[in-house]
Amino acid sequence: MYIKKLIGTKCYLAPIDMGDAEQYAIWLNDMQVAEYLTTASSVISLESEMEILGSLSREHNYGIVDLQTDQLIGIIGLLATNHLHRTSELGIFIGARDYWSQGYGREAIALLLDYAFKKLNLHTILLRVYDFNQRAIACYEKTGFKKIGEIRDGFIRNLEYHNIVLMDILPTDFYEANPQFK
Ligand SMILES: CC(C)(COP(=O)(O)OP(=O)(O)OC[C@H]1O[C@@H](n2cnc3c(N)ncnc32)[C@H](O)[C@@H]1OP(=O)(O)O)[C@@H](O)C(=O)NCCC(=O)NCCS
Repeated sequence: MYIKKLIGTKCYLAPIDMGDAEQYAIWLNDMQVAEYLTTASSVISLESEMEILGSLSREHNYGIVDLQTDQLIGIIGLLATNHLHRTSELGIFIGARDYWSQGYGREAIALLLDYAFKKLNLHTILLRVYDFNQRAIACYEKTGFKKIGEIRDGFIRNLEYHNIVLMDILPTDFYEANPQFK
């Protein structure tokens, strides 16, 4: 059973449970998940994942849990938060692939952004996404993110260069796209 912190209609966000390190390590070693992340070229062992998870758990990173079944499906969080300038960077992955494209990502992001704007007083949330990750880009656009630029040839994969798309979102963008959170 997970602690429910931010609750939606499909999923909720729960503080990181260190007992899930093995599950996260399995997902990060699944190349069908990892190819969208920076971890495709990393070695992720249970030990290294414990370390990473330990530091993530001290900041605003949360497990994404299916509301119906209480099954952990992924992780979402805010990285490199700067409280002086009220900026942060969003990271997310749903490791349980059978949950992709069912609106869980969009809801998890909306729950975290509403919290970030209203409770953490953040203002500008940035993200980076590979240009071939059309599912993620569609999800981010629906949540209200705007494309602000691209790092040209910023990533090489399968012997080909790709751009890294930069997107950001302000409270006005978010509440326009998600009026139910107003
Ligand atoms: C990216 C991710 C978090 C998105 O979460 P999700 O629950 O799958 O996304 P959602 O269902 O909320 O939204 C995806 C949308 O893209 C659409 N979509 C799916 N595949 C698509 C494609 N190839 N091209 C365009 N749109 C696509 C879906 O139909 C959905 O739109 P809809 O709501 O109109 O049906 C999740 O897919 C994931 O974790 N993927 C693997 C890791 C990853 O890419 N992390 C992000 C790194 S930046």
